[in-house]
Parts: sequence; C-alpha cells; structure tokens
Amino acid sequence: MAVHNQTIVILDFGSQTTQLIARRIREQKVYSEIHPFNTKLEKIKALKPAGIILSGGPCSVYDEDAPYSDPAIFELGIPVLGICYGAQLMLQQHGGRVEKAHKREFGKADLTIKRTGGLFGKLEGGDHQVWMSHGDRVEVVPEGFEATAFSDNSPYAAMAHREKPFVAVQFHPEVAHTLIGTDLLKNFIFDICGCKPEWTMASFIDQNVREIRERVGDDKVICALSGGVDSTVVAAMLDRAIGDQLTCIYVNNGLMREGESESVLSFFRSHTALHLVNVDASEFFLGQLDGIADPEEKRKRIGIGFIDIFEKEAKKIGAVKYLAQGTLYPDVIESVSFRGAAPIKSHHNVGGLPDVMKLELIEPLRELFKDEVRQLGLELGLPEEAVFRQPFPGPGLAIRIMGEISGERLAILRQADVIVLEEMRRAGWYRKVWQSFAVLLPIQTVGVMGDGRTYEHVIAIRAVDSIDAMTADWSRIPPEILGEISSRIINEVRGVNRVVYDISSKPPATIEWE
Ligand code: XMP
Repeated sequence: MAVHNQTIVILDFGSQTTQLIARRIREQKVYSEIHPFNTKLEKIKALKPAGIILSGGPCSVYDEDAPYSDPAIFELGIPVLGICYGAQLMLQQHGGRVEKAHKREFGKADLTIKRTGGLFGKLEGGDHQVWMSHGDRVEVVPEGFEATAFSDNSPYAAMAHREKPFVAVQFHPEVAHTLIGTDLLKNFIFDICGCKPEWTMASFIDQNVREIRERVGDDKVICALSGGVDSTVVAAMLDRAIGDQLTCIYVNNGLMREGESESVLSFFRSHTALHLVNVDASEFFLGQLDGIADPEEKRKRIGIGFIDIFEKEAKKIGAVKYLAQGTLYPDVIESVSFRGAAPIKSHHNVGGLPDVMKLELIEPLRELFKDEVRQLGLELGLPEEAVFRQPFPGPGLAIRIMGEISGERLAILRQADVIVLEEMRRAGWYRKVWQSFAVLLPIQTVGVMGDGRTYEHVIAIRAVDSIDAMTADWSRIPPEILGEISSRIINEVRGVNRVVYDISSKPPATIEWE
C-alpha cells in the first residue's frame, strides 16, 4: 500500500457520487482514496490522512442496519467533512438527532450562508445554487455544532463544529449542479486540512518508479502488451523504473483489427527500447475458436490460450517473478466497497493468469482513473496517438462477431471497422467518444442492388460516451457522419447490405455485443 504525503480518505457509504468526490479532489492536485465505510481505524491511521470525507449513501442513520464508521475517527485530530448521509452520521455520532423530513429535498436548492469562513471561506452570504438529494434532515443540532447555512427545506443545510475541524453539508459539493462545490472542496482540503496542490503526474511517476525499483530489486518482470492505453502506459512506466529487467510480450491472437499488429509493433520499436517479444499465435487461436458460437466459450478459450502462451514465453525468459498489468482504480473499487462485500471485478485482460503462473502482480495504475492514465502517458512522453486510443477488448474481434468466427467473417468486420474509425477521425469525433466500432450480426437480410435482390450481412455500429465504462450512453453522432459510414460500408464491403446504429445505454445493455 503506497502512502502518499497528503491523502484525503473518503469513507464510502454507497453514494453514486462517491467516485466523483475523489475525482474533484484529485483535480486539485491532492491525492484522494476511497475506502469502505467500515474500514478499521488502524488502517485509516496507516494512510496518514490529511482529512477524511464521509460520503453520502442510500440509507438513513436511524435504520437498524445503518452503515456506521468508527466514531473514533473524530478523536484523531484530523479534519472531517460529512456529505449528506455522512453529514447526518457525523451529527448523530456527536449526539444530534436525524429524522425523516416532512418533504424530501431533491434537485437544485438555494443555499443561504449564515456564517462565512471555514468551509465557505470568502464566499458571500447570499443565495447559492446547490444540489440536494435527501429524505432525512437534522432536527437536533449536537452540542458544539452550529448551523452555518440553510435552505428552504433544511434549516441546517451546513454545519460546523465551533472548535474542532468538523464540517457537514446536507447537499453534494461534488456534483456540477452545486455551483460553489469546487470552492467548498478547495476550502476543505487547502484551508481546513492544510494540503498543498502537489500531487501531479510527475510526482506520481517519481514515487512509483522508486517503489517499483525497491520491490523488484534484480528480478525479472513480464508485461502483456496489447497496444492499448493501459498496457502501453504500464510498459512505459516499468521501462522507466527497471529498463532491461522488463520483457513485454505482444500476442497476435488473429482477432486484431486491420493492420493493428504491425502498427503496434512498429510503434514500440520506433518509440521505445523495450525488450519486445512478438508471438504470432493467430492460427492457434482461430483453430481454438473454430465452430464456437457461444460468447462465454469464446472468452474462455481465448483466456486459456493466452495463459498457455504466457507460460511458454515466461519459461523461455526464465526466472520471471512479476507480472505487470494495467488494473485501473474503477476495477479496484467497482461499484464501490460499500458494505465491504461488493465483488471486485477481476481484470478481464488476463483473467486467471496470475494464479496459474504464480507470478506476483505489479499494478502501477491501480490508483488511477482512465483520464489520469492518459495524463500519465503524456507525462511519460508517449505520443498522443498512443495515449488517446479508444479501448479495445482483449478478446478482440471475437466478441464483435456474433456467432461463429471464420476468416470470411473476420475480413468483413475488419473492413467495416476501418471505415468506422476512418470516418470518426475524419469528422473529428474519434476522441469525443469512449469507443466506436462495428459489430457483425449473425443474420442476413434482404436488399436490392441494381436490379437484383440481395441477401447479405448486417453491420451494427456502436459508439458510446463514458467516463470509465461502468456506465455508458450511446453517442449522439450527427446523422451525416452515420450516413457516410453506412453508405461507405454498404458500397465498399462486399457481403453487407444493411447498417444499423445501436441506441442502447449501459446498463442495461453492455458496450460490447459479445
Ligand atoms: P462491456 O461490454 O462490459 O465493456 O460494457 C466495458 C469496457 O470493457 C471493454 N472490454 C474488455 N476489455 N478485455 C478488455 O481488455 C475484455 O475481455 C473486455 N471485455 C470488454 C469494452 O471494450 C469496454 O470498453
């Protein structure tokens, strides 16, 4: 566990916006981490927090099984900010009383500041737009606390302890609708907690390089390189830390996009001095997938294939002790650690690999969000074309061909995919969306071409907006661009006579069709 100089620890009570709190704080160049509400006091102390934030959450503090954090956090002499549920808990744990409000308060509200300073810093007293979402409110203010702001429905919309550094807000400073939200978070971290804006990607690199060197010593590390942003940044980071002790393995599984293997290899050879092993296993993988239509079976076979290849390559290198991989922060805290029981998503790139190979993991991106990984890549000197690539799944085109995979079907999808990406780039939309790609459907439909009737394949276009792929919305791509993609695919890709656009969000749909 890395300990940062100044960390704001967020205890999560299950709010949908907990991750946003961490992001807002990191945007101020102060490091912030999310932990479950019931994290043991000793662990919290070990993180040496400069401040603690209690997040919002769906429960009521008077519920029988309401989630509580250890009240001893108020004895640590560390500033605490409570947000919504977290505010109510703080006040209740100090002897206040919280009850169901007569009227739920949801949405925008006007906040009137009664006492400036503290969390409100230099903000003027008048009305400020904030975002509320609660059905409970504080009825009895505990001793030592005073109300510092009110709204129409909350006489105690913000409170502060008179002597201790404890502040509580009923609204959500982390959401954009709270126009003064960033000011309040800044006042908390800089004025109340005394943090300095020192957590930059450059400092992150320094600290990680030091830690990786210390941990790895003279041992060898392998890294599966896919050409995607995460593995590329991991490789660049490891390269900086341990240079020659790192071997990267690129596996062509025959399911890559058109020209992808060549461009990934030539990129690494021209931009880095990495030891790069190139394994062309396309025939092997396509053989394994022959006749397989079930998506889970495809994934399983591809996963096992990767493990086989990695084992062989690691043996050739000899005495490998570590595997570096690009696990990101959302993978670690997925739908958060609320109640401490939420399953943590296993990283789907190399599922199962570490267990089988008994390698220890190095995960330098474990603390970062995707956009931070991109910043890190730039800071490490990687070119924009590598850093701003759209994500591409490990099982590649196998999960974008519905039904059985064949050479012919791969060729159709590859051609359609090239057109989608070309047109997205040409229109300046490639970087506006999270992902954009083509999917080959397992059906044929009727069309006309010239005087003849056709009976051919259907391509679906999928493009989504997302922050971390946990949720996504379909991208509102202008119809002219979609029109151009459609007519080019139908004209240029033989065997396709229909193109459709996927307008489902995640959830309930997923991004990939599988
Ligand atoms: P879904 O389809 O689950 O995808 O909404 C979420 C994000 O993850 C990517 N994805 C994968 N990435 N290996 C990967 O490296 C995989 O097996 C895999 N499956 C899905 C997907 O492209 C999207 O960005």
